[in-house]
Amino acid sequence: MTKGLFITLEGGEGAGKSTQLAYLRQRIEAAGIPLHVTREPGGTPLAEQIRALLLDHRDEEMAPDTELLLMFAARAQHLARLVRPALARGEWVLCDRFTDATYAYQGGGRGIGFARIAVLEDWVQGELRPDLTLLLDLPVAVGMARAGRRGELDRFEREQRDFFERVRAAYLTRAEQEPQRFRVIDAAQDIAGVQRQIDAVLSPLLAQAAGAPI
Ligand SMILES: Nc1ncnc2c1ncn2[C@@H]1O[C@H](COP(=O)(O)OP(=O)(O)OP(=O)(O)O)[C@@H](O)[C@H]1O
Ligand SMILES: [Mg+2]
Repeated sequence: MTKGLFITLEGGEGAGKSTQLAYLRQRIEAAGIPLHVTREPGGTPLAEQIRALLLDHRDEEMAPDTELLLMFAARAQHLARLVRPALARGEWVLCDRFTDATYAYQGGGRGIGFARIAVLEDWVQGELRPDLTLLLDLPVAVGMARAGRRGELDRFEREQRDFFERVRAAYLTRAEQEPQRFRVIDAAQDIAGVQRQIDAVLSPLLAQAAGAPI
């Protein structure tokens, strides 16, 4: 049996990741492919507890290294318990954010060197990298306006605008560095327009899976 595909969805706040995740889920499941839809940080009960620490922490400022290590602690658990076993069974995994978000937020945003993040990436993931990463890219102001419509902002969302500019730039740099893995999607288009761009990437993969031996 061939290994399943590992697809990640990346982008800033309000880029439309959750919206398009639902669309991707529907397309992949309709093709009859066994699929796990998950997210980072999180994806298992323990990793979700670490996520809560990362997002809700309030009374003491979290040091950047603490944040980075918690991200990878959650990731180690998620990979061990969910992602690796699913891929080994030939199932697909669709994940809302992954290590590129660590490079973008803790690296670009908080200023931790990419080389240090790469050490943890190699440690925790070994050779494992996503097969495909869809980067939903849009101007920061558009994303914040979309995300703000949903009510109270979490700790990350309250950060300054220039933080999000650095996050966006780091994502785009990574996409340039790994063009074979990344597809940059213009997320400023309306929902149908974004779906059309995703279809162009996904349809060949679904066709390939339909023809693949079980
Ligand atoms: N292409 C689009 N055009 C206009 N509005 C959109 C588009 N895509 C999503 N939205 C709306 O913008 C808001 C944010 O979308 P969504 O929750 O999918 O973003 P997200 O990337 O998952 O955000 P977060 O990083 O906060 O989880 C939602 O209200 C959603 O309905
Ligand atoms: Mg979301």
